[in-house]
Amino acid sequence: MIQRIAVLTSGGDAPGMNAAVRAVIRAGLFYGKEMYVIYNGYRGLIEGDIHQVNKEFTQDIINKGGTILKSARLPEFKEKEIQEKAVERLRDYDIDALVGIGGDGTYRGLLDLSRLGVPVVGIPGSIDNDVASTDYTIGFMTALNTICDCIDKIKDTSSSHQRCSVIEVMGRHCGDLAVYSSIAEAAELTITYDHPFDEEHIFKRLRKIKAQKKSHAIVVVSENLLDVRELGKQIEERTGFKTNVEVLGHLQRGGAPCAFDRILASRMGSKAVECLLEGQTGVVIGSIDEDIVAIDIEEALKMPRNIHENLLKLIGMLQ
Ligand code: ADP
Ligand code: F6P
Repeated sequence: MIQRIAVLTSGGDAPGMNAAVRAVIRAGLFYGKEMYVIYNGYRGLIEGDIHQVNKEFTQDIINKGGTILKSARLPEFKEKEIQEKAVERLRDYDIDALVGIGGDGTYRGLLDLSRLGVPVVGIPGSIDNDVASTDYTIGFMTALNTICDCIDKIKDTSSSHQRCSVIEVMGRHCGDLAVYSSIAEAAELTITYDHPFDEEHIFKRLRKIKAQKKSHAIVVVSENLLDVRELGKQIEERTGFKTNVEVLGHLQRGGAPCAFDRILASRMGSKAVECLLEGQTGVVIGSIDEDIVAIDIEEALKMPRNIHENLLKLIGMLQ
């Protein structure tokens, strides 16, 4: 029977991870379990940075950005020897089950541990919304709001000077932050993975906007797709639009989680513990059509990511 449960955060931090940690710990304590935290993700697991916690540990963390458990990236965790060390450490502390909060990479680590006999559950925490087995990852909505705040501010100054602003947003290789922020900010152009773009179309459209004497033009671009500074130069040269380039960067990962993320994290964290206690392990938690569900990790990792056809159509219709 599962008596001791540990929780860690791994990969890029995301607002709402603390709310998820809180929910896991409180749900475990509610069911009479001993609860442990592991600092610094899989690195801390290997190093035995493992500590028992009580309810007080979770006070005043639901609204905190980042992750109080810290996060780390440990590429060596792909090696079986290192994973076996992790299993040994869990045994040293008599830990019966592990909850990991992170993205696909974190899920792969959990799958490997599960294959070595550790009962595990994964919770999707990432600003990118790039996990196929859930409609929303914890942190996505907060990052989206942050991006919208930034674009609102950029628009103020951009409008005062009739400028074009090229804004690069995060997402790793997922276009959701770009697509959703483009809709919310009524961006003039969106350049992202799921939204094919053609340079000539971009310049033609911006020339038209300039000719119409619109006060600004906002171009949202997904990271890792093209050189935004070069694009900015090309826009100036080929359209005459004075262009600013803004790479929003890591500020998108910071800040207090919005209410949506706090609630999502609370629901997912408690579901993770209930799954473990019901003997449902080797699963990841997802939010699908408002339901909080558990999906086999292997299946989850094979799921194709949905391209949001309806949202892309909407962008095409409204831009
Ligand atoms: P995310 O979890 O947000 O996708 P990463 O891709 O950085 O972030 O993965 C987080 C950590 O998960 C990595 O640093 C590594 O320790 C572990 N990990 C990633 N891929 C694998 C894999 N294929 N097998 C085992 N562990 C992995
Ligand atoms: O996965 C979250 C994320 O912020 C991505 O959007 C981005 O590509 C990456 O992490 C940046 O990673 P790092 O903080 O290691 O530079």
